[in-house]
Amino acid sequence: MTKPQGLHQTVYAGAFVHSTDLNELEICENGAIGVDEDGKIAFVERNVEDLNAVVEKHGWKSPVLVRAPDCGFFFPGFIDTHIHASQYPNAGIFGKSTLLDWLETYTFPLESSLSSRPKAKTVYTRCVQRTLSHGTTTAAYYATAHAGSTNLLSDVCLQLGQRAFIGRCNMDSLAPDWYKDSSASTAVDDTRETIAHIASIDPEHKLITPILTPRFAPSCSSELLTQLGKLHAETGLPCQTHISENIPELELVQKLFPQYSSYADVYDAHGLLTPGMVLAHAVYLTPKEQALIKARDAKISHCPASNSSLSSGCARVRTLLDQGITVGLGTDISGGYSPSVLEAARQAALVSRHVAMTDGDAAKLSVEEVLYLSTKGGARVMGLDAKVGSFDKGLEWDAQMISLGVVPEGGTMGNVDEGPVDIFGWESWDERVAKWVYNGDDRNTRAVWVRGHKVHQKP
Ligand code: GUN
Ligand code: FE
Repeated sequence: MTKPQGLHQTVYAGAFVHSTDLNELEICENGAIGVDEDGKIAFVERNVEDLNAVVEKHGWKSPVLVRAPDCGFFFPGFIDTHIHASQYPNAGIFGKSTLLDWLETYTFPLESSLSSRPKAKTVYTRCVQRTLSHGTTTAAYYATAHAGSTNLLSDVCLQLGQRAFIGRCNMDSLAPDWYKDSSASTAVDDTRETIAHIASIDPEHKLITPILTPRFAPSCSSELLTQLGKLHAETGLPCQTHISENIPELELVQKLFPQYSSYADVYDAHGLLTPGMVLAHAVYLTPKEQALIKARDAKISHCPASNSSLSSGCARVRTLLDQGITVGLGTDISGGYSPSVLEAARQAALVSRHVAMTDGDAAKLSVEEVLYLSTKGGARVMGLDAKVGSFDKGLEWDAQMISLGVVPEGGTMGNVDEGPVDIFGWESWDERVAKWVYNGDDRNTRAVWVRGHKVHQKP
């Protein structure tokens, strides 16, 4: 893909909501956002009384007009900073397992089966369609260890128009013989093949970017981590991995890498703890590790639904934020059960309340904060904050249209009562947004755009 084709100047009129800061949600009831033929925001107008006057002011002749529904609004597309596309068929299946037995029982067998390209294509197509329908406009994906199937995921994202980071999963240790890289050098060769494939289909990475992906320290030899660290320095490509997710995993890292002072130090010593690194989970980081991560400006993907499902633990997000660490949200399918970033935001709010029960009220994350993490925070995690995450002039139009009124399928927020009492629409705008965060789902997501292109629409 070079340049978005077939776009017209478009004005998105009505209410819009977006984060301006961690604690600040701007709610504009009468807005008009002009998006140009390149899919970029050309103007943002507030307190609009006369739409024609706005159009004229900007010298636009006859733009396409898209109106937010009554009791609805435009919202930036969600950014899922950690999701395993390859595990999509297992979403919701984890029983009472915890991380290490879950990997053996459920995850490696499924990922291994994606050596079948027809199966991989079906799984990836469904995963991308589904996440788009939940308003995910950018996703940082793990694929599998298979280069060919990983390339299919890049093709699917490009074809369906989702902005994506695609990672071939590197794992040359501590995994079954039937599912692991045969050596560090074949792992890196295969990773280079996936980078070359993306260069051939989207050379400027307008939509698709490779992301180096050591699965996690226990499944990588020191040699593989070293080679990936070199590749990271050589290419400048982003990187993603897991860190400090559950206690037996920490013990395993200590056993496998006794010469390093901590889990974070293992990555640091291999040249992987950099501003381009996204670390998923970060539940049990010590204060020293947090300081190291902050010093290196590495980023954290908070995956609350997964941490609860696999009973991994409760990440201390407030502590991370207070130290100035950049945090976003991840669904972590299928450690997490849901493809929805809205669900991840809700779970982030709820987990923070569990933390507050022991650590005190300051731990609680507000609606404003979890919405920030799911958009602008995620954009910062992925190094995309100059492109997406909010509605500012010059950013690309990655957005979703939310309807809070009647949803045809009979939503939980719908005004289905035909009686004389208005059960919806009486709330303040802040309250409407809170109801969406705590009760909303994909039925409220009426349309989704990436780079100005409509990539999903509810009938
Ligand atoms: N650690 C290593 N691999 C995985 C994985 O697939 N999911 C999660 N949640 N943690 C991991
Ligand atoms: Fe994960």
